[in-house]
Amino acid sequence: MTEQAFSARLTSRSIRSFVIRNGRLTKAQAAAIDTLLPRYGIEYCEDQLLDFSAIFTQENPVWMEIGFGNGDALIDMASRYPNTNFIGVEVHEPGVGQALMGIETLSLQNVRIIQHDAIEILQHMIPASALQRVLLFFPDPWRKKRHFKRRIVQKDFVELVADKLESGGVLHCATDWQDYAQWMLDKISTCERLENQNKTGGYSSRPEWRTRTRFEQRGERLGHTVSDLLYTRI
Ligand SMILES: C[S@@+](CC[C@H](N)C(=O)[O-])C[C@H]1O[C@@H](n2cnc3c(N)ncnc32)[C@H](O)[C@@H]1O
Repeated sequence: MTEQAFSARLTSRSIRSFVIRNGRLTKAQAAAIDTLLPRYGIEYCEDQLLDFSAIFTQENPVWMEIGFGNGDALIDMASRYPNTNFIGVEVHEPGVGQALMGIETLSLQNVRIIQHDAIEILQHMIPASALQRVLLFFPDPWRKKRHFKRRIVQKDFVELVADKLESGGVLHCATDWQDYAQWMLDKISTCERLENQNKTGGYSSRPEWRTRTRFEQRGERLGHTVSDLLYTRI
């Protein structure tokens, strides 16, 4: 799908957590989108809740990764956890192409991709209490104060995630931007249905299994501290 066609498909909500850039698509990424998206992709649809038992070959818990970038963590997790199903969500087309190539190379049966705004997907396609985990790794920090409204972690987003997590499910965020980490802590803590796994109310230790993504490595090169936040749905 061209960038213009994709932009046109988005409805008119004005404040979004991303900007569609005219990213360069390599030939391999373009070919992956043409040939693999029909196989591993799910079309965004405003009036149809997903039926995971029809989508995946095996009925397993579902984890949703929002903004998977090039798919580093998504592909790594899906290959290490074959008994978990993954929905990867990303709007950046080159990243979608790259992730599709990874899925094909490893013949992963437990991943599906949706190229659309995660908020609209959560609102319109994910049934209540359907997800075991929502993963948000290194979301765009939108550093300038006038752009804070674009940060994906907002009170409404947190409530929406709480609606879609099963009881005992987990919201896991990670960021290398300290100001955003504190912002996340403040916003998520307002939700009474999510309990911080750190009983003292701060950040959690980095789970050993969490893949080191490109954006994390970049943050580390810049000397940033990485914070993980883990909240359990009560
Ligand atoms: C800073 S990158 C991090 C990518 C990856 N998680 C990593 O750690 O390497 C954030 C990504 O989130 C995507 N994104 C931002 N808002 C989104 C939304 N509402 N729905 C889907 N993807 C989104 C952007 O396109 C971008 O690729």
